[in-house]
Amino acid sequence: MAKQVLVSGGAGFIGSHVTVELVQAGFDVVVADNFSNCDKTCYEGVCKILGCRPPLVEMDFCDLAAVERLFADYQIDAVIHFAAYKAVGESVAEPILYYKNNLLSFLNLLEVARRKGCNVLFSSSATVYGETDVLPVTEQSPRQPATSPYGNTKQICEDILRDSVKAYPGIKGIALRYFNPIGAHPSALIGELPRGVPNNLVPFITQTAIGKRECLSIFGNDYPTPDGTCQRDYIDIVDLARAHVCAVARMLDGKMEEPYEIYNVGTGRPISVLELVNAFEKVNGVKLNWKYAPRRPGDVTAIWADPTLANEKLGWKATRTVEETLASAWAWEKHLAGE
Ligand code: UFG
Repeated sequence: MAKQVLVSGGAGFIGSHVTVELVQAGFDVVVADNFSNCDKTCYEGVCKILGCRPPLVEMDFCDLAAVERLFADYQIDAVIHFAAYKAVGESVAEPILYYKNNLLSFLNLLEVARRKGCNVLFSSSATVYGETDVLPVTEQSPRQPATSPYGNTKQICEDILRDSVKAYPGIKGIALRYFNPIGAHPSALIGELPRGVPNNLVPFITQTAIGKRECLSIFGNDYPTPDGTCQRDYIDIVDLARAHVCAVARMLDGKMEEPYEIYNVGTGRPISVLELVNAFEKVNGVKLNWKYAPRRPGDVTAIWADPTLANEKLGWKATRTVEETLASAWAWEKHLAGE
């Protein structure tokens, strides 16, 4: 019988891609979302890609009774937890909102999951590493104090998971630390749907290219990097989604070596903002209107992953080129524009 995976926040950008990959890998998936930061577009896209409708539960993980009902209604073997707020700037302006939502939802989930003996995969972020001189970062690289309440919720949730699996031997946990997820599904039926002005680079690029935004600002060209712009490890969203399938399989097949495991999910390849912009223009044959602007507060100069552990233990490796990924991001933006 197929194992059933609960994907909290399964209608969002990462959750929708993970749902597709899980179902295609033979898992049953229950999608749960409160649609606070997304509409039904991506869920409908998921259904179109799959040709079936994974059960969708509209609920809020801050509501413990709702989480209990969910676990009573479905026989869940593992959980992947995405349901959280994710805007760095907003978290600085509204810390209570962020701490309450991101921590309470995770605590509720863990409380019920541990009663049911259900393993938990947590969506963490490379943001936990902060600014570091030693690159690439491995899972052993020290975490730096968080620079935003959002980043702090990622660190705290990692710690909650670590402490919980230690205290409750019936459950195990994995934290995946994502680098910069970009791109869209090759079908162009699901992708990123930022609300309002995008904070992240690639949606800002595609919206500028389509004419929704006038000009892309490249934040800072005086960083100590080869071309002066920041470097990141941009990971294709489908590659990222596949890492979840590998991690869930490891959990459910009893292959975990520790009760709590952490994996970097990145390519191991640094790309500067300027390189990314140039690659986007070249692969899609479009001219982008861009200018240099002052540094954005809070940005780290450079960060990229050492993904060796995930390569070896999860049997996972990033496969798509940045050109393929940027082409998929552009195809998605054009799909949204009805082209
Ligand atoms: N950038 C621009 N112009 C823009 C947007 C971004 O030049 O309009 C630059 C940024 O300065 C940065 C790079 O593009 O150098 C990437 O920026 P993103 O906002 O796309 O991604 P970040 O690396 O800032 O964000 C990542 C994760 C977040 C996490 C954050 C913590 O995507 O989830 O790191 O710092 F919270």
